[in-house]
Amino acid sequence: MRPPALDLAPEVVETVRERLARTPGDLTPHRVAEALRAAGRPVGDATVIAVYDELRRDVVGAGPLDPLLRLAGVTDVLVNGPDAVYLDRGGGLELSPVTFPDDAAVRRLAQRLAAGAGRRLDDAAPHCDLRLPDGTRFHAVLAPLARPGTVISLRVPPRRAFTLAELIAAGTVDARLAEVLRALVNSRRAFLISGGTGSGKTTLLAALLSLVPPQERLVLVEDASELRPDHPHVVGLEARPANIEGAGAIQLRTLVRQALRMRPDRLVVGEVRGGEVVDLLAALNTGHEGGCGTLHANSALDVPARIEALALAAGLGREAAHSQLASGVDVVLHLSRGRDRVRRLEQIGVPLRDESGLVTMAAAVQVGPAGPEEGAGAGRLAELLR
Ligand SMILES: Nc1ncnc2c1ncn2[C@@H]1O[C@H](COP(=O)(O)OP(=O)(O)OP(=O)(O)O)[C@@H](O)[C@H]1O
Ligand SMILES: [Mg+2]
Repeated sequence: MRPPALDLAPEVVETVRERLARTPGDLTPHRVAEALRAAGRPVGDATVIAVYDELRRDVVGAGPLDPLLRLAGVTDVLVNGPDAVYLDRGGGLELSPVTFPDDAAVRRLAQRLAAGAGRRLDDAAPHCDLRLPDGTRFHAVLAPLARPGTVISLRVPPRRAFTLAELIAAGTVDARLAEVLRALVNSRRAFLISGGTGSGKTTLLAALLSLVPPQERLVLVEDASELRPDHPHVVGLEARPANIEGAGAIQLRTLVRQALRMRPDRLVVGEVRGGEVVDLLAALNTGHEGGCGTLHANSALDVPARIEALALAAGLGREAAHSQLASGVDVVLHLSRGRDRVRRLEQIGVPLRDESGLVTMAAAVQVGPAGPEEGAGAGRLAELLR
């Protein structure tokens, strides 16, 4: 569909393919760039992306969906049975011209992709959620469970992280806060990024992780691998659902504990949404600096209650949860999506304990229509970042 961006000599792609095959790891633009460099090839952005695209095509092998997955800026490809294939390339859902001959063809494609990842997808196990080798998330539910036919949802990983400069340009981060965020990263203080669904938490986290000094070691723990920080030293751990016999599940909690033995300079929990909060808080309270992660919360004020609820469900009492939150988490960055649909870093908060011992959030910076304004927590933030 789209012509190759560059006239790539086939041997360039071959060289990169061979080099990548020799070392384990996901196919990422970063690794492509490294392989090009190691092969003594010129490494321009356009070359890296072109080689990456070319290699992605082989790994994904999503048949008629391939051309859609290769379109610039595509984030989602959604198959609703044989007759409707939608895509999202930033401007909402669009119906694509792609169709399948019948539902059996959609089913075969779904089964092939699942089988390629060693998973079963049939009438006994009619749904499946997994990550393809190139990082694309693949989810499928077979008909007749799903209507109007077998439904496949593909989420394409971002090719590269947004930079802080790009988030500023997009209106997400007020330029006057850039230095505060840099100072936050450099201070190695523990922070959480909170916000509602799709408010850009993961994106901001990746941008901040890209600012971490290159000599530090990042260990990422995620339910589904999606963070792609632009950083030379990243190790990722991904949770695993139970297999068809209900065995073999690896929980995020387990991985957080494993991560601590891996000498992380930064322990990153991509999304805190369950019992792993207990292990994360424990780590942050036992001298592990530089912890961070995202947390779903509709307002910055909600953060302590949300942590408390997650911790309680995992057996950690209210008092303990608050006390560990207060001493373990230094800063909360809250994002929200305005009426204009723009995602904004709306508040920088610091958790403070009141007389009763419970944590409340104090705004250190509140971003209003006129820009950032200092709040009651400003002094505490300055102290933390000193
Ligand atoms: N500042 C931004 N400008 C434009 N697009 C953005 C921005 N931040 C994030 N996005 C896009 O919005 C979508 C959701 O972003 P992201 O995954 O970071 O949100 P999230 O809050 O982590 O979502 P979830 O609640 O699903 O975890 C992504 O497609 C991402 O590329
Ligand atoms: Mg997220």
